[in-house]
Amino acid sequence: MSADLVCFSEPCRSRFPITEPVYNCRKCGSLLEARYSGDRMPAAMLKTLWRGRRTSNTPLDQSGVWRYREMIPFLDKYDSVVTLREGNTPLLGAPKAAQYGGLDYLTFKHQGFNPTGSFKDNGMTCGASQAVRLGMKRVACVSTGNTSASMAAYSSAGGLQPIIFIPHGNISYGKLAQALEYGAMTLQVEANFDQILALVRTLADKLGIYLLNSVNPFRIEGQKTIIVEMMDYRDWNPPDWIVLPGGNLGNTSAFGKALRELREFGLIDKMPRLAVVQAEGSAPFYDLMHTAERSKLRSVEHPQTLATAIKIGDPVSWPKAWQAVEWSGGVVEKVSEQEIADAKAQIGLCGIGCEPASAATLAGIRKLIADGRMKASEDVVAVLTGNVLKDPDYIFKYHTGQLKDPHGALISSTYGNGPTVVPNDPDRIAALLGG
Ligand code: F0G
Repeated sequence: MSADLVCFSEPCRSRFPITEPVYNCRKCGSLLEARYSGDRMPAAMLKTLWRGRRTSNTPLDQSGVWRYREMIPFLDKYDSVVTLREGNTPLLGAPKAAQYGGLDYLTFKHQGFNPTGSFKDNGMTCGASQAVRLGMKRVACVSTGNTSASMAAYSSAGGLQPIIFIPHGNISYGKLAQALEYGAMTLQVEANFDQILALVRTLADKLGIYLLNSVNPFRIEGQKTIIVEMMDYRDWNPPDWIVLPGGNLGNTSAFGKALRELREFGLIDKMPRLAVVQAEGSAPFYDLMHTAERSKLRSVEHPQTLATAIKIGDPVSWPKAWQAVEWSGGVVEKVSEQEIADAKAQIGLCGIGCEPASAATLAGIRKLIADGRMKASEDVVAVLTGNVLKDPDYIFKYHTGQLKDPHGALISSTYGNGPTVVPNDPDRIAALLGG
């Protein structure tokens, strides 16, 4: 099997060696993607091989990414792999959330069960492994928090020096704390995500630092395995819908590529529809997909949302995401701050929990059901992208009626569950507990 980096733009399709540290086409500037050629194992053999690896004790097989290495064969040997046993994230039935959304049944694939608590680990194990393979010393990313937490962990684990750039005051403390703890050099820049991405690209080029944002095609390869694992755990029965939040749109791109390849390889026989959900104040992809010509994304200059993970106005991967939504017959929806907050509380009530951006999925489902685009009887998997503990400040404020939207308006604590302060008095506490 041989691998190349290929320009995503159809009229160009320039090819670059897989070992070249390049993120955009040198000819036309478009995004790049990994493409493979050569003989492939038959689908039935692959399924048996992957299932068998679940009982193996080798690090590579224990990783829910590298277990599926035949889907991501960009390394010629595996001595550069940096793994923290990422992936292996569960499919969880959630009856209460299903009822809230208007579905008969709903499953969450919870990427918050990853080593650093988000889906970024699926991609970062691949990005960091490629950096080690290329002999890089320093790696960098701009992040709304999860990419940086993940990059910090994987680079430190792999002996690389992580340098992270974050929008000052715009990421949750949980995520910032992770980057500090994992040893990243952390630069808080007085600019938004989109502005910092441009800055980091310039610096990476100038200083020979390897860029680990989702423009890095190897990150996308790793994130493909979220879908492969989902199908494996479902015995290769694709759902009708896969719902996910959209920010920089790397994940949407990865899901589209995974579904296309699984179909090509004969591993699934049906294409699920992708439903991408954005926050209302940060929804350039929603806007694009609701214009007649759908040809050019117009960025949102000052994106606003409390779901800081998806506070991105100029998503770089939109051409790939556009194609993924088109191929799958998918939809793009947007939801309000109140809808995200209430959906999040409902996911919490299932004993599952997630961070705000992830809850956009359930809020989106409720909207799609309400207007009839999704049917109650359909088989839906929503991907929860981040762990509940990523943003505890948001949770406390919601449950105590103090959460305000980016314009300062109070968000209703519809399903609020604030703590009660009690005196150290057994009788009064007993009275409070109903005798
Ligand atoms: N959900 C969470 C929890 C995220 O952290 C992100 C992105 C998304 C959804 C959106 O995914 O960008 O692939 O469309 N977080 C990035 C970061 C941008 O820097 O951590 P996307």
